[in-house]
Amino acid sequence: MRVSPKVFYENCYGKYAIPAVNVFTMEQVHALFSAGEKADAPFIVQLTPAARNYADPRMLEAMIKGAVKIYPKVSYAVHLDHGDETHALDAIASGNYQSVMIDASHEDFVTNVAKTRTVVKKAHASSVVVEAELGVLSGVEDDMSVAEELAKYTQPSQVEEFVALTGCDSLAVAVGTSHGAYKFSGGKGIQFNILKEIQSRLPNFPIVLHGGSAVNLVEIDRINKAGGELREDASGVPADEIVQSIAFGVCKINIATDTRLLWTRVHREFFRDIPELFDPVIPGKVYMEEYEKFMLEKFDLFKATGKS
Ligand code: G3H
Ligand code: 13P
Ligand code: NA
Ligand code: ZN
Repeated sequence: MRVSPKVFYENCYGKYAIPAVNVFTMEQVHALFSAGEKADAPFIVQLTPAARNYADPRMLEAMIKGAVKIYPKVSYAVHLDHGDETHALDAIASGNYQSVMIDASHEDFVTNVAKTRTVVKKAHASSVVVEAELGVLSGVEDDMSVAEELAKYTQPSQVEEFVALTGCDSLAVAVGTSHGAYKFSGGKGIQFNILKEIQSRLPNFPIVLHGGSAVNLVEIDRINKAGGELREDASGVPADEIVQSIAFGVCKINIATDTRLLWTRVHREFFRDIPELFDPVIPGKVYMEEYEKFMLEKFDLFKATGKS
């Protein structure tokens, strides 16, 4: 069943989190829906502008519709991740998304508010909910001063005004995570003091955590043993920090990097181990099985298993 993320968040707030997973390919869509059905767990399938430019939105949206026919018991929502105004308005007009993100977090506060507000008005007129972002999601480096470091995080003093002015339905925050396989380069994890302060100013308001991949070092090692050259300082969000963040109002946790690492590991090992084969179906099947297993573990960690 298609469910508005608004409903997901009302149900999960403070108790469990909804995984929001970026998809680019048929194998990912299949395995995500299959896992959601097996775990009886709610999930958000999300498309970035890069994914839409790669595959064409019509192809991705058709694959999602196909998956719903194959896995009819799932509770899911379709979301545009990191949309600009053009992609957000296009997604709203298509009728294929229950939720869009307008990411104007790189703009100054006033421009971020204005751009977000424009998308919210259009989205709400079509019963689409909106995720906005406040703060700069990027790594905190070792040699940064405290002032530089603080400037990157979401300023808790701005969140009430931002939400009131924009009318957004959920808020992505910068509390220490970053995208990709090299998080927390300054050795710091999620800033729970900031998250707590945000929650106290926005009680019961759904918070979104970007950069939610775990970056399993076993996967990094397997990729490198099969010819990869990923750096040794790869790191992700520890499981206990994910669990802790749920109590602070984190309702949606975004995952992309882990699924890319898994893809890389499966395919590099396949080509290394069976160099005489040249068939996309064989590693594709392994990838789907491994991806499904990965998602079943995520649903458990997020306490979302059985909650659909
Ligand atoms: O932030 C989400 C994704 O990691 C970005 O991926 O821009 O390659 O679609 P993409
Ligand atoms: P990761 O790079 O940690 O997977 O984050 C994904 C994300 O935030 C997508 O919007
Ligand atoms: Na998003
Ligand atoms: Zn993101």
